[in-house]
Amino acid sequence: MPGPTSGRLNQGSVNRGDLGGLIDVDRGMVSREIFVSEAIYGQELERVFARVWLFLGHESQIPRPGDYLVSSMGEESVIVCRDVAGRIRVFLNSCRHRGMKVCRYDEGNTREFMCPYHGWSYGTDGALVGVPFAKDAYGAQLDRSRWGLIEVAQMKNYKGTIWATWDRAAPPFLEYLGDYTLYLDLLLDAWDGREGGTEVIGGDPQVAHPLQLEVSRRELLRRPLPWREPSVGGHGRHRSEREGPPGHGGAEPGALARRVVPEPRPLDDRLPPAT
Ligand code: FES
Repeated sequence: MPGPTSGRLNQGSVNRGDLGGLIDVDRGMVSREIFVSEAIYGQELERVFARVWLFLGHESQIPRPGDYLVSSMGEESVIVCRDVAGRIRVFLNSCRHRGMKVCRYDEGNTREFMCPYHGWSYGTDGALVGVPFAKDAYGAQLDRSRWGLIEVAQMKNYKGTIWATWDRAAPPFLEYLGDYTLYLDLLLDAWDGREGGTEVIGGDPQVAHPLQLEVSRRELLRRPLPWREPSVGGHGRHRSEREGPPGHGGAEPGALARRVVPEPRPLDDRLPPAT
């Protein structure tokens, strides 16, 4: 009889009996099959990633109306954007016409997302705003209000971090987080006890702690940054092109560092007096 470390699964659905053959609780052993089984992976996508709260990004990555970034929920590509009214929205990155990705960049700023396939376009609030040849193709039949981008069921901005779930029945974010909230707060709050204060700088999460900010600043100012022209001007950019020159949609390191508070005190102020 095969042991738990040699079990194989059929590539169909997985039931509890199959899983039981992969786990030996007494010996504390788990089959390596769990890392490669398509059946288990499919169920994880359906039962876990389609239902839980998932981390998508940070509000400091999209500070202005029209700013967006592309993230993922399981294997689904999603657009995290700040709409023209300044609200953060999360949409499935899939055209309502025939499913093409409407956003092909990793991040950028835009007034609308235009699908590259047949040109349907959507506002930053997800509304369908443009359909080429609509009268010829659909006459009066197309009710645009029904064909906006699909929005997540719930979205939460927690101290700057953006979370979302597809499950309308999922518990509210803080209830879902439970006692783990403490650990998230330790990460997100300033070390002097003030709430929040985190910001993404140059792709690396940074905490608004004076000493760490000083290190970040030094890093930002010291490193020669690889300026690169975006492949297509204006609309967006791929992450490998993120640090483009100011005015071309890229991050300007000095400005990012200045937006973090508080101003760090000189290092000497924080060292104990010499005895
Ligand atoms: S698939 Fe987007 S316009 Fe046709």
